[in-house]
Amino acid sequence: MKTVLDIPDLKNKKVLLRVDFDMPVRSLGEGGCATEITESFRIKKQKVMIDWLVERGAKVVMITHLHEDDSSFSNLIPQLHILLGREVVFIKNIEDIEGHLANYPGVGLLDNIRNPAVAGSGEKENDKGLALSLSKGFDIYINNNFAVCHRDHASVSAITEFLPSFAGLLVQEETVQLRKAIYASKLGKIIIIGGAKTETKVSVIKNFVDKAEKILLGGVVANDVLKEKGQDMGSSVVDENSKELLAGLDLDSSQLLIPEDFVVFDNKILDIGEKTIKRYADAIGGASMVIWNGPMGLFENSAFAMGTQKIAEAIVESKAYKIVGGGDTIAAVSKFKIFDKFSAEGGSASGGNFVSTGGGAMLAFLAGEKLPGLEALGYYKSAQ
Ligand code: 3PG
Repeated sequence: MKTVLDIPDLKNKKVLLRVDFDMPVRSLGEGGCATEITESFRIKKQKVMIDWLVERGAKVVMITHLHEDDSSFSNLIPQLHILLGREVVFIKNIEDIEGHLANYPGVGLLDNIRNPAVAGSGEKENDKGLALSLSKGFDIYINNNFAVCHRDHASVSAITEFLPSFAGLLVQEETVQLRKAIYASKLGKIIIIGGAKTETKVSVIKNFVDKAEKILLGGVVANDVLKEKGQDMGSSVVDENSKELLAGLDLDSSQLLIPEDFVVFDNKILDIGEKTIKRYADAIGGASMVIWNGPMGLFENSAFAMGTQKIAEAIVESKAYKIVGGGDTIAAVSKFKIFDKFSAEGGSASGGNFVSTGGGAMLAFLAGEKLPGLEALGYYKSAQ
């Protein structure tokens, strides 16, 4: 895979940069006119790449999607200025890119690429016509959005057919770190999988059966295993297809740790209990590598946050190499005010830390799937 480090000279090069500004926002007041970015982790990770390109004399136009297809960046620009420490010129739609390239020296941001008013409807269809239009006027395409690499979209895949294409620093870093998660010795490696959406997690669990010493489960994934083991789940959230999803997994294996006690409210399991917390924390304490995606319970409600918080703290305290990711996991550690302890600069002195920006992309990578965005960059052809 070619990365930005392979580009010999960026001076005056016009760069189309796929960034990741898909972040949680909340509306301030009626009508949704004012919006606040509530989690800026992904933006901060992009800043490094943007600064790197600008320092080398490149002229950068950024493209990204936002949480809802009809959302716009129009009222988020002032916050982006602050978070990126530079002016960002808002580009309303794809037709305005040419004018931007001709008239403005600064960094541009095309509005939400998935919004039909911005770029038609071709993004999610991986439309070559859209990719060709996007490529007009640029010398180079850089994909610095690992979190979207599991999507076969025009600004991720098809675009690479029209411009010399390179992986950005973040895509490179994510692949290196997540490969470590897969290929590090099984001995002492544990993976913790929680949260909802069992269908997105179960292939990771299956892929790690011969790659991790222990697999610790929480959240709906654990509920599904308990259900298939014959436990009465009351009104707890379970996946109706749990039988098919879990097929092939040895649910009685000692490698698989499932909750033994719970916090129950209204006949629903909403968190793991104290015995489970202790057993999981002991496993984490003895690990050399911990990979974590997905909360243990309904952490958004403080009454059911204890399991997730204690597990997060046990990970922080452990000397293990830590790789964590997923939108809910990041939201949980931010809520517990220990996010910094997971970042590369924080955390234990002896372990290492990596927080993935990927949600679905992290899971797909860990499941051993081929990600279209990485394939388009030649990742699977090269030595990686
Ligand atoms: C993510 O949040 O995982 C990425 O931004 C991709 O978003 P999507 O699931 O809407 O494609």
